[in-house]
Amino acid sequence: MTAAILVTGGGGVGKTTVSAAIGVAAARRGLETLVLTVDPARRLANALGIAELGADPSKVREEPLLWAAMLDASSSWEAIARRHADPAVAERLVTNDLFEAATGQFPASQSYAAAEEATRFVKQGRWDLVVVDTPPSAGGIEFFTAPANMTDLIGGRLLRWLTGGKLPGRRFFFDRAARPAIRIADAVLGAGLFERVAQFLMDLRTTYDGIAASSAEIDRTLSTAQTLVVTTADPTPMREAIRFFRDLPPNAQHPTSVIFNRSLPVSWVDATAQDDDGELTENLLRWSTESARQQRLRRQFSERYSTEVTTMDWQPTAPTDLDSLESLLTTAGGYSLENLWS
Ligand SMILES: Nc1ncnc2c1ncn2[C@@H]1O[C@H](COP(=O)(O)OP(=O)(O)O)[C@@H](O)[C@H]1O
Ligand SMILES: [Mg+2]
Repeated sequence: MTAAILVTGGGGVGKTTVSAAIGVAAARRGLETLVLTVDPARRLANALGIAELGADPSKVREEPLLWAAMLDASSSWEAIARRHADPAVAERLVTNDLFEAATGQFPASQSYAAAEEATRFVKQGRWDLVVVDTPPSAGGIEFFTAPANMTDLIGGRLLRWLTGGKLPGRRFFFDRAARPAIRIADAVLGAGLFERVAQFLMDLRTTYDGIAASSAEIDRTLSTAQTLVVTTADPTPMREAIRFFRDLPPNAQHPTSVIFNRSLPVSWVDATAQDDDGELTENLLRWSTESARQQRLRRQFSERYSTEVTTMDWQPTAPTDLDSLESLLTTAGGYSLENLWS
C-alpha cells in the first residue's frame, strides 16, 4: 500500500522545499519514495535531477530510494476534455466557443489535473510513499475541492444553468458567459444556434461519466493521505493556512500538521548582547521580539485550531542540496514529521 502526503499552503512559503525534504528523509529511512513536484527552483531541480526530465518519475542520482517527477501545472480544460471524451467529440467540444465561456468561470483545471496525476501514481503501488507538492495557482484549498467541483460543474451546475435552473445561477451564467457567446454565435450562425447549444450539451454530457469516475477515485485515494499546510508567520500565508482549518468541507480530512517554515530560532527569544555595542544590542532586541511574536503566533494557532505545529528554522542559505534538505526535517521543532511514516 502506498501512503501519500499532500503538501499545501500559500505561494512562496516553502511547499516545494518541504516536499523535497520529506522525500529525502523518508528515502534515507528506507522507504521507496516519489516526490511529485511543481515548478522547483533551478538548484533544487538540479539536486533532484529533474531539470531536464519532466513528467515521468526518474531516480534521483546519489539517493537510491528517491524518485522525482514534475507535476503538470499547465494542464487546461482542453486537456481534461480530451482525456474524458472520444477524440471527435473532444475536438468539437474544445472548439465550441460555449466551452471556453463556460470553463472560463472555473479556473480549477490545474488542480484537478494535478490531483488526477497524483492519484495515478499512488494507485500504481510502485512506491511506499508519494509526496505531492500542490500547484501554486491552486492557492491550497482548491486542490482538495477540485474533484468535487468538476463533477458538479459538468454534471450539475452547468447543465442547470444552461437548461434553466434557479436564479441567480442562471442569470449569472447568462450575463457573464452565455450572452456574449450567444451573440457571437447568433451573428455567425443565425438559425444554427439552437442546434449548436444542444450539441454542446450532449457533448459535455459524454465527458461526465469519465470525470465523475475519476473524481470519485481521486477522492477515495486522497482521502487517506496526510495533509501538511506550510506557512510562514507573515499575514498573507497565514490567511491561506487559516482557510484550511475554517473552510475545508466537513467531509474533508483535518490537516495533520501546520509547518511554520522560515521561523526564527526559539533560542533567539532570550538573546542578549555581551558587550556594550549599542547597534548590536538593538538588533538583537529586534530579532528577539520577532522570534517571541512568532512563537506566540504558533501557540495561538495550535490552540485555536487544535492542530499539531512543526517549526522549520530560517536557514542562512536556501536548502537546495540533499543533505541540507534532510537536515531541515531532522532539526525541525514541535511535531515530528517522521511520525508520518514510522
Ligand atoms: N527554511 C528555509 N530557510 C531558508 N530558505 C528557505 C527555507 N524554505 C524555503 N526556502 C527558500 O524559499 C524560496 C521559496 O521556497 P519554495 O519551496 O520554492 O516555496 P513554494 O514551493 O511554496 O513556492 C526558495 O528559494 C527556497 O529555497
Ligand atoms: Mg513550489
